[in-house]
Amino acid sequence: MKIVVTGGAGFLGGELIIRLLAAIDEGVLGLPVDRIESVDLVPSPVRDHRVISPIGDTADPEFLTEVISEDVAVIYHLAAVLSGGSEQDFDLAHRVNITATTHLLDAIRRLGTRPRFVFTSSVAVFGGDLPPVVPESHAPQPESTYGAMKAIGELLVNEYSRRGFIDGLTCRLPTISVGPGAPNTAVTSFASGIIREPLGGQRAVCPVPHDTRLWLCSPETITENLLHAARAETAALGGWRVVNLPGISVTVEAMLESLERIAGTETRLLVADALDARITRMVQSFPGELVTDRALRAGFRPESDFDAAIQRFRARTAPEPTAT
Ligand SMILES: NC(=O)c1ccc[n+]([C@@H]2O[C@H](COP(=O)([O-])OP(=O)(O)OC[C@H]3O[C@@H](n4cnc5c(N)ncnc54)[C@H](O)[C@@H]3O)[C@@H](O)[C@H]2O)c1
Repeated sequence: MKIVVTGGAGFLGGELIIRLLAAIDEGVLGLPVDRIESVDLVPSPVRDHRVISPIGDTADPEFLTEVISEDVAVIYHLAAVLSGGSEQDFDLAHRVNITATTHLLDAIRRLGTRPRFVFTSSVAVFGGDLPPVVPESHAPQPESTYGAMKAIGELLVNEYSRRGFIDGLTCRLPTISVGPGAPNTAVTSFASGIIREPLGGQRAVCPVPHDTRLWLCSPETITENLLHAARAETAALGGWRVVNLPGISVTVEAMLESLERIAGTETRLLVADALDARITRMVQSFPGELVTDRALRAGFRPESDFDAAIQRFRARTAPEPTAT
């Protein structure tokens, strides 16, 4: 059987595919899966004979019918237009974040096999007048196109699950930091950039005030929790198939203090402030902390602390020792 990862060529899709392959190798996946299909506009960068890359558009129903075959055990739906891109291009965001999600759910429904469907939502579904710690029952009130479309996706996944068409689970992801690679179109891209770039000796710009509080999680904990989502027990979640994934609540100032503690003052001084009102408005509409009890009860793992996230990022990006 196979696992399908839409958006498999993206940052998180690549990380997830590597983790899924390791779980197969370790014999801990718990599913009879022998290959992974990365469904994206471009091929997966992961080089492994078990990774296949059907190239196509998730908004194309014919393409989806080819990809969603009876031997699919789990579908991870990651393909999306991110927060900055959605704000810039409403029509593209609507096509990829809503129309494609509906086509995908319908292709799975036609199978009749009710596979596990994991949808990656975001804290951007929240907005409005938020309490300092957002309870599980807080109603989404998005203040961005991206957040509104993620909220619509959550409701679709919930309804298709309630009707018995899929076995759905929405994971609301914290902002990921410290992520590798280049900046992307997410308005929270700086949350990795202000750490990653200075650690690589490069200058970085911080577009938000330092007292801005973020709900963060490292890529390692996120991929571990997405792996868990493939077989997590959903019965205890009742009729609401949405969990807030664990994270840590940190201010930008605390992140920079972590950077200084680990890499020194000179490294921290590579970060300059250049306030961006648009980014600040959107990021400050997201919650800084959420209750995650339902996720923890369902076996998702908590995040540790931001120093550990930086240390892990450093360890994975450290150059290989050269042979002498
Ligand atoms: N990175 C984060 O901090 C974060 C936080 C919360 C939620 N998420 C969610 O996690 C998921 C993955 O995020 P990411 O950071 O890896 O994003 P990314 O931009 O790196 O990856 C998205 C992928 O989707 C693909 N894609 C876009 N439109 C497509 C289409 N029409 N057909 C096929 N593929 C298409 C892109 O080519 C890209 O490879 C997204 O759903 C995102 O909303 C990410």
